[in-house]
Amino acid sequence: MSSIAKVLIHASQFPEKIRHDLLDSLHARRVNHKFHYDSVKQTQKWLALHQACSPARNDADCAAIYDRGFAAAVARTKSKAVHVIGLGCGGGQKDTRLLKLLKKAGREIFYTPCDVSTAMVLTARRTALKVLQEKNCFPFVCDLVATDDLPAILASRFTSHVSRLTHHASRIITFFGMIPNFEPQIILPKLASLVRPNDFLLFSANLAPGADYVAGMEKVLPQYDNPLTRDWLMTFLLDLGVEKKDGELRFAIEDGGFDLKRIVACFHFKRSRRIEIDDERFNFRSGGIIRLFFSYRYTPERVRKVLARFGLEVRDQWITRSKEEGVFLCRNSEGRALRVPD
Ligand SMILES: C[S@@+](CC[C@H](N)C(=O)[O-])C[C@H]1O[C@@H](n2cnc3c(N)ncnc32)[C@H](O)[C@@H]1O
Repeated sequence: MSSIAKVLIHASQFPEKIRHDLLDSLHARRVNHKFHYDSVKQTQKWLALHQACSPARNDADCAAIYDRGFAAAVARTKSKAVHVIGLGCGGGQKDTRLLKLLKKAGREIFYTPCDVSTAMVLTARRTALKVLQEKNCFPFVCDLVATDDLPAILASRFTSHVSRLTHHASRIITFFGMIPNFEPQIILPKLASLVRPNDFLLFSANLAPGADYVAGMEKVLPQYDNPLTRDWLMTFLLDLGVEKKDGELRFAIEDGGFDLKRIVACFHFKRSRRIEIDDERFNFRSGGIIRLFFSYRYTPERVRKVLARFGLEVRDQWITRSKEEGVFLCRNSEGRALRVPD
């Protein structure tokens, strides 16, 4: 592997935009999730948490639903060359399993690991290079929510060099573990605009198990409240100068839109704390609250229904025996994605 990596960085992750978004989060007392993956330290903590707690890494049944989803996507993608675009790629482990399968099936493979965190993109690149040629990997840093030109950028494949290499490839877009942390009405129109009529979208979500939605939410609540998750989420506040003794991190269930419920993690201040960022000051009084995190839990029916509202049609699905995680193979049913001529 070369000691140099070429990484494209979208303006949505330029320093001035990140600063603006950080100030917005503190003003609103609602932290944009991207700030939990911002630093190398947070990336390391999340990767350790993922390694220790993610069912996809630790539960054979969960790994199997991804494998079935990958096999179905490979079988249905007929072209000789396939470009996998990993949106919110994280460490790239799932995408690399898909790439490995495509390679085994004799396809020429290309990979765009795309994430808000440069450290994540580089980790995903390193993972993928075990099965992929370096010249076929196009790391891309961007904030999916803060971009309007992504369909055009991805469709024109970034640069003439990438375009030349991938113009004949079919596309599989992955969106694993992402939907819980976004408002559906914000992220789903963006996602739908990226999925072209011939693309496949592989999508996964943590689910609330069982027929009783409320009981399912209550069952999964304790999974969030563990030392690794607390440590990862608190890093954002501690790095801004908040001390653990300033308050308490509490997890709860609340209602969201689209008939969905979510787990929320809020820090409740027990004493006053001032955060200063350059000339901006944020005063948190005793009793004040800042929301650090939320995670929507869908059910398979809710996934189908909410995706359909945004023109994404679930064609196939694989659900774990525990009913706590699902993989969905989708198409853009309305052809809403931007068409850019080859
Ligand atoms: C829960 S992890 C999922 C990682 C990976 N897809 C997986 O399933 O293992 C969420 C990922 O989304 C990325 N992310 C968060 N907000 C984002 C945004 N606004 N735009 C792009 N990526 C974002 C994070 O950096 C992180 O890698």
